[in-house]
Amino acid sequence: MKQHSNNRATPAGGLHVAVIMDGNGRWAASRGLPRVAGHKEGAEAVRRVVRAAPSHGVRTLTLYAFSAANWKRPKTEVAALFRLFHTYLRREAEELRENGVRLRVIGRRDRLPAALRRAIEKAEAATAGGARLDLRVAIDYSARQAIVAAAQRMMEMRGGADGEHEFARLLGDVTHWDRPTPDVDLLIRTSGERRLSDFLLWEAAYAELYFSERMWPDFGEEDLDEALSAFADRDRRFGGLSAAAS
Ligand code: FPP
Repeated sequence: MKQHSNNRATPAGGLHVAVIMDGNGRWAASRGLPRVAGHKEGAEAVRRVVRAAPSHGVRTLTLYAFSAANWKRPKTEVAALFRLFHTYLRREAEELRENGVRLRVIGRRDRLPAALRRAIEKAEAATAGGARLDLRVAIDYSARQAIVAAAQRMMEMRGGADGEHEFARLLGDVTHWDRPTPDVDLLIRTSGERRLSDFLLWEAAYAELYFSERMWPDFGEEDLDEALSAFADRDRRFGGLSAAAS
């Protein structure tokens, strides 16, 4: 069991790691395979990383599986992705439960197929007691849309709203997250791309960013460990001074 706790700003309860799982399509194309084959292999990488995360000090893991902008992709690819999510939820819920993983899907739900919505609710209910890892899978997610929706809710409220704190709670509400909105400690993006792509813009205000050249389907425990080692070496100051200077 490897812990990455030498960073003085590591939260006592464990880390929140968020991942933009990029490169499935390129992984497949480089092998002469259809894009969907890359997504299937990407689901295997999800399994590996979810299994490994708790023993590496990760308490919350947020995975970007389908952005609101991904609706622009061909209908066949969108349908294949939804089938994959459905299969994952159906097949993995039991193992997740046994391993103390609490799964929640964050994002909009009103545009998802009804069968997928039901599978989400079922997997969430089955894993609700998990206390080792909060696994948040972002589907039909847009940070901007969530921020706008939370701002609208806040405007509808009359008085008594405690600024930032209340806003963070509403941000959870509008994305079907049911706990205080957790700040991201480490945000990983694979495949050599260096963008945030509308992911957790509020929650990642002080996140350390880590870009891996690895295509997501090849990503595994060692890569997670490498990212966490790099994170442990960062000097997180949150606008203050480093330990040495103060
Ligand atoms: C980005 O790669 C990846 C996605 C849009 C889909 C992510 C989905 C998975 C990893 C499948 C399994 C997920 C779960 C939760 C079971 P891309 O297709 O944009 O790759 P490219 O940039 O190389 O084209």
